[in-house]
Amino acid sequence: MLQNIEKIRLDVSQFSADTKEEVEQFRIKYLGKKGILNELFRQFKAVPAGQKRETGQQINQLKLLINEKIESLLSTIGDEATDDASLDLSLPGPPLEPGARHPISIVRNEIIEIFGRLGYTISEGPEIEDDWHVFSSLNFPPEHPARDMQDTFFIEKDPDILLRTHTSSVQVRVMEKEQPPIRTISPGRVFRNEAISARAHCIFHQVEGLYIDENVSFADLKQTLLFFAHEMFGNGVEIRLRPSYFPFTEPSAEMDISCQICGGKGCNVCKYTGWLEILGCGMVDPNVLEFNHIDSTRYTGFAFGMGIERVAMLKYQVRDLRLYFENDIRFLEQFRSAY
Ligand code: DAH
Repeated sequence: MLQNIEKIRLDVSQFSADTKEEVEQFRIKYLGKKGILNELFRQFKAVPAGQKRETGQQINQLKLLINEKIESLLSTIGDEATDDASLDLSLPGPPLEPGARHPISIVRNEIIEIFGRLGYTISEGPEIEDDWHVFSSLNFPPEHPARDMQDTFFIEKDPDILLRTHTSSVQVRVMEKEQPPIRTISPGRVFRNEAISARAHCIFHQVEGLYIDENVSFADLKQTLLFFAHEMFGNGVEIRLRPSYFPFTEPSAEMDISCQICGGKGCNVCKYTGWLEILGCGMVDPNVLEFNHIDSTRYTGFAFGMGIERVAMLKYQVRDLRLYFENDIRFLEQFRSAY
């Protein structure tokens, strides 16, 4: 009997399997009801008393060995994927997800592309600016509330160095360097000392536009903005200009577009007016031209500034500004199909 056990031990240790099925058959063969081990226990009854102790130990050790063998076989076989029967090599692999552009970049690129077709160049300026470029040269009087600490981030307590609160500062940088005709847009980040909420953020993005030449009129401004609105939101959209005030334009206006969500009927997004504000604009104030050494008797111009988050909100119906900055992958991956 001991010889027989030794032979079985050898068989067990030499056994190998490629599939779970084979391991299961192995288990049944050795540990099943009518398996080899039970047969040994049956024979054990007939073993002479003197050999019972050693034979019993051998059978128990064999049982342990079989269990260990099964465990180690199953752990190397692992999951279904290595099971020949379920491995289909013709199946496509898991998709490689490409990155997506951020919605703000998508909308910024689209704005650049639309104005590019009208011949606008792109210009940039620094985010850390001085008072002259952000306020004074744009005709802000010295006591204007926009300079207030509540609205503007100043750098190191120096009232002259600050984070730009609008991209209008880039207009000035362009006028300093170039003489008309000037036709340029300036996309970029701006900073305001605001409490962060769904509707306000201390960092956001604007695109500034500036067009200066002889005989530029308010009608040119209106036509340019109508073209932009149609390209960005579709031909069905209507625009409305409301009189407003900015120190650097005269006359000044704010532009609304007809609400795309309710079609102008009134909803909670347009606060039941049918209209949504998307930008500020106006004819460049002659003072601003003169501050920048452009002859205001010869040249006129228009300017406008729009919030990219605002345009993106209307395009994608994203109602909470904070989503643009959190970089939650579940938000960002929804823009994968956009360009
Ligand atoms: N700078 C203004 C703002 O941040 C927007 C603006 C209004 C820009 C009128 C312009 C303009 O160029 O002409 O609210």
